[in-house]
Amino acid sequence: MPQLTLIPWAIVFLGVGVAVLAWIGVSVWRRSGQNGSLPQPLTSIASLTKAHGFSEADYYKIDPLEDLNLENEEPLKLRPFKAKYYLTMAIENITANDLIVMDKTYSSRIALRRQLIRDHLSEVLAWNPISTPAVVELYTYLTATYLPHRFPTLYTLHEKGLLNHITGELLPICPSSTEQALRILGENIDDEFLFLLPAQSESPEENGKYRLEAFITCFPSGFSTRQKLGLKLADIHTPVPGYAARLEKSMDRFFATLPVGKMVKRQNWSITTDKRLFAITGNHMYEDEHALRGESKEKEMVNLRETVMRCERQTVHRLPKTGAVVFAFKTYQYGIEELRDEGVGEELATAIDGLGEGNVPEILVYKRQVVWGEKVKKFLRGEISVDD
Ligand SMILES: *[C@@H]1O[C@H](CO)[C@@H](O)[C@H](O)[C@H]1NC(C)=O
Ligand SMILES: *[C@@H]1O[C@H](CO)[C@@H](O)[C@H](O)[C@H]1NC(C)=O
Repeated sequence: MPQLTLIPWAIVFLGVGVAVLAWIGVSVWRRSGQNGSLPQPLTSIASLTKAHGFSEADYYKIDPLEDLNLENEEPLKLRPFKAKYYLTMAIENITANDLIVMDKTYSSRIALRRQLIRDHLSEVLAWNPISTPAVVELYTYLTATYLPHRFPTLYTLHEKGLLNHITGELLPICPSSTEQALRILGENIDDEFLFLLPAQSESPEENGKYRLEAFITCFPSGFSTRQKLGLKLADIHTPVPGYAARLEKSMDRFFATLPVGKMVKRQNWSITTDKRLFAITGNHMYEDEHALRGESKEKEMVNLRETVMRCERQTVHRLPKTGAVVFAFKTYQYGIEELRDEGVGEELATAIDGLGEGNVPEILVYKRQVVWGEKVKKFLRGEISVDD
């Protein structure tokens, strides 16, 4: 009698269904109750966004670069150095147009990125499960909207996906996993993307503090991004001298109150004595190391032909739906010969001394100026040749 036995089963299913729904309801209710007294980031962001005249529509104001031919696009010449080094946020407003910059280095950079993703996957790409909606949001925005609208000669949308005309590849609009999304971004855009999400915690110290929850970073400058996964902004920057005293409060505030639609950029610079773009070590020096080892041996090793000014063009914005903050950057390298020939040698030499004369003199050691400073200055001032 199948009909008869079906009825009790239906009742059991219905019962289980109701119980599950009730359980979800209670836990949601509990959560909102628990968090009721805590700050509610997204609500205040909505009002901030409105108050500042921004909106989600700002993400869709994209002007196409109709005639862009990458072969003619020189890389930007960033010259962010100043006579004295001040550790500040130094941000400038930008629009969606400025989020991604492309130039003639694209193909060689992309080839290197692909090799790094193959050979060092767990170092260049990682995520925590909480980040999945944010990664998918950025991925979908870039593939379905941003790239084909901003760079119509390089990317076109088709029924089956986004065609990258430079590599000839068809990219899916719906990624099959967080890893695939991060990977495709890394393989197709010469920018690093780091996703920061506010922590939900009962401790007021931790609650609302932004943590790194996902990244694709092929070109780190002297640190392992992998080791920073899950860390708060302040802990990510522990090695940076002066960060806690000079920057931590304003950075935390900036992240917590960034409206949707406000987009900013900043640039930094350093001199590196090798051209490795994937640098999970090196590029920095710490006081104790400096004191212990002395820098004389390394000083002799500085090869001016390998010495470059390394700059990052960094952008920060908030994703409208998930509220995650995306920190992105593109890396540029300029040979010191190029800088001297351009006529900024003296200015850069002054800035090299100025590293120790601003609000955080410890930056001088941190950036290893004690190793490369004298020699690079002599070169920039025409006192020695590039092969000395
Ligand atoms: C940048 O945008 C903010 C609004 O978020 C505005 O208050 C500020 O004046 C702008 N800065 C510049 C330099 O235009
Ligand atoms: C630029 O700043 C970032 C932190 O915002 C730091 O990790 C990186 O090492 C700096 N790079 C250079 C080239 O100074």
